Amino acid sequence: MPDIPLPIHRPRRNRKSEAIRSLARESELTAAHLVLPIFVHEDTDDVPIASMPGCHRLGQAGLIEQVTIARSHGVAAVVLFPALANALKRPDGREAWNPDGLVPRLVDTLKQRWPDLVVITDVALDPYSSDGHDGIVAPDGRILNDETLDVLCRQALCHARAGADVVAPSDMMDGRVAAIRSVLDGESFTDVSILAYSAKYASAFYGPFREALDSAPRHGDKRTYQMDPANVREAVREVLLDVDEGADMVMIKPALPYLDVIARVRGEVDVPVAAYQVSGEYTMIMAACQNGWIDEQPAILESLRCIRRAGADFILTYFASRAAAWL
Ligand code: PBG
Repeated sequence: MPDIPLPIHRPRRNRKSEAIRSLARESELTAAHLVLPIFVHEDTDDVPIASMPGCHRLGQAGLIEQVTIARSHGVAAVVLFPALANALKRPDGREAWNPDGLVPRLVDTLKQRWPDLVVITDVALDPYSSDGHDGIVAPDGRILNDETLDVLCRQALCHARAGADVVAPSDMMDGRVAAIRSVLDGESFTDVSILAYSAKYASAFYGPFREALDSAPRHGDKRTYQMDPANVREAVREVLLDVDEGADMVMIKPALPYLDVIARVRGEVDVPVAAYQVSGEYTMIMAACQNGWIDEQPAILESLRCIRRAGADFILTYFASRAAAWL
């Protein structure tokens, strides 16, 4: 043997057994970190979503079944997304605050059955809008900010009255967190939390979600309100504004392509930071798994662990039930 000096530093010593690796582990992933997004519709049957293998638009029975399974694996929170018939979609999205609408009815059903389940609702007009936009559209195609605030407040109030624990504005209108907080407080819903989609990017990865809800913009795109994927300082600005307006929790979306944003935001605020592993991220992983190109369980868990490591306190993911079962 030539006289090679022995390495002084051997990081591998901290990896020599699973027990040692556990001591050295810097972040962890458990079922308690996962939130399950669920697509629901008025029909009674469950309809598969072609671009999201394993996901369905669920009827009420399917919803109960899926929440039962998720809870049995330790998932404690869900978020509902309604797929509405076109006949119910209007320019002002008025079905969004119908007290007898799909979301308030299902929120009530879930909370009656499981008072401890954390029920989160999405606040934005797109599933209810005949334009497929998150806000009110002017005749010239502009998305009107201040006119939209009023309808978002009605929608948030409707969800709070139905029993939602958390309302999550995903519309990216300026000032909506303060507006919703004041309307909720005015009606004594001081305990209803606001999870703000603070840094929501104009992303191509929402494609399968828009197919699931048939909610793609009928004209134009969302770049005048959703963020430019080139930006990170702007994400910090959005988050700080939302915290200042009273957001209890903030969210970054999508997740995997935006880990740097999650890490930056984590360093800037003390409120819980969520990340949304969106439909396109789910679809990419599932497509590769179905082709046998990557190994499903380790790939899914790694994707979620990396989002936690970047700094997310909790993760909205269509893998929530499956991942929780493995954990
Ligand atoms: C809309 C909304 C979107 C998602 C959640 N809320 C899509 C959009 O902005 O068009 C996307 C979630 C996903 O892709 O999984 N308010």
